Amino acid sequence: MGTVEEAKADESVASPSGTRDALSVIDRRTGKSYELPIVNGTIRAMDLRQMRTGPSDFGLMSYDPAFLNTAACTSRITFIDGDAGILRYRGYPIEVLAEKCTYLEVAYLLRNGELPTRAQYDQWVKDITYHTMIHESLKKLMDAFNYDAHPMGMLIATVAAMSTFYPEARDVHSRESRTKQIHRLIAKMPTIAAFAYKHAMGMPYVYPSNDLGYCENFLTMLFKTPAENYRPNPALVKALDVLFILHADHEQNCGTAVMRGIGSAHTDPYSALAGAAAALYGPLHGGANEEVLKMLEEIGSISRVPAFIKEVKEGKGEKRLMGFGHRVYKNFDPRAKIIKRMAEEVFQVTGRNPLLDIALELERIALQDEYFVKRKLYPNVDFYSGLIYQAIGIPSDAFTVLFAIPRTSGWLAQWEELLEDPEEKIARPRQVYLGSGERAFLPMERR
Ligand code: ACO
Repeated sequence: MGTVEEAKADESVASPSGTRDALSVIDRRTGKSYELPIVNGTIRAMDLRQMRTGPSDFGLMSYDPAFLNTAACTSRITFIDGDAGILRYRGYPIEVLAEKCTYLEVAYLLRNGELPTRAQYDQWVKDITYHTMIHESLKKLMDAFNYDAHPMGMLIATVAAMSTFYPEARDVHSRESRTKQIHRLIAKMPTIAAFAYKHAMGMPYVYPSNDLGYCENFLTMLFKTPAENYRPNPALVKALDVLFILHADHEQNCGTAVMRGIGSAHTDPYSALAGAAAALYGPLHGGANEEVLKMLEEIGSISRVPAFIKEVKEGKGEKRLMGFGHRVYKNFDPRAKIIKRMAEEVFQVTGRNPLLDIALELERIALQDEYFVKRKLYPNVDFYSGLIYQAIGIPSDAFTVLFAIPRTSGWLAQWEELLEDPEEKIARPRQVYLGSGERAFLPMERR
């Protein structure tokens, strides 16, 4: 039983209708009060629209550039607690999945919501593996890129072109068709990525081998040549598989928001995924892993780390410590912790990447420097992943491609969730218009 004071406090917080799950608002422009229901910790932005100053007033909107505090969907796929450094796929902690699962098992989990049984897993792997080849015309299309084309540019364009090969993919409401496109996309991304790499190297493409596992096949397509056989080191195959698990999904980030945005127009998944990959390409998003390597190479030695940190601090946002900071994680990025541990394991096979020492020193200084501490800037997923990719032998301009391969399963799971959501509608944000009012037109000779 509560005290009298608690009862009074309860009364003061209860809304006029008696519920505590509501926000009471007084619109000072009109003196009217409103009660907005709070569901799942949110108010409905559309509930603001009823607040008007008169019949010609459109109604109140919220203004949220870059969606800093706006939930655009409900989702049951990925949970992040940025303050506590928690990441879970379908309820399973990322640390557990990274230790105990394969990437394809996680891709199944993301799509279906449950971990597969042995029979389900075998079927899923078989269905995906069946689709690893790409159409020969798609290969010719890739041939047409310039010798120095960026692998991400090639990947984006080739994935978009795939929509012309599978016109039935436009039937986005058929689960059967969606399933097929999901198998195809997860299967073909490594092939396209490897072909992009081979094209950039001026080397012949190596076709997929369906007797190999997902990551083993990918590494083989990258590094085998007609002249030499290649068997990837199992430790590197395992490391790549873990990296793929860590990158598979990350709720409503920039690329995924694009996937959902394009998907909301009922566009086919190839076109939507090309858009998501284009967002990922940006240096503030998945392109950061490439930028981290450039930065470490630019710094060049441990002795130059303090001077670099000074430049970042004095640059006031102009120059950033790439691989640091995150919109959601304000404590630590749990993926970065796993990757840092894994980097050591990979270096036991490949030899130590000399840039690691510069990265460790950057991290050490940044984590105790007031500028970074105050702004809650910690290493993110991209800070150490590039060092591992480089140790495996992958050139830095292909790093973001290695991010796009596993993120494909997350993008597709989010796309399908959107299509099955009863609240789904075409995405169409509002704007606050600050331009001129109506103006009289002046003919050119009088301007
Ligand atoms: N280095 C130096 N300063 C930084 C950095 C950084 N990496 N990141 C943020 N800041 C500073 C900003 O200058 C700003 O300072 P101010 O308050 O004095 O103006 C403050 O920290 C807040 O920064 P915002 O840009 O408002 O943070 P936001 O949440 O919008 O940005 C982002 C997040 C884009 C990831 C940012 O931290 C960044 O640019 N990091 C470097 C790029 C990077 O590593 N991206 C990969 C992210 S993970 C991923 O997408 C897969």
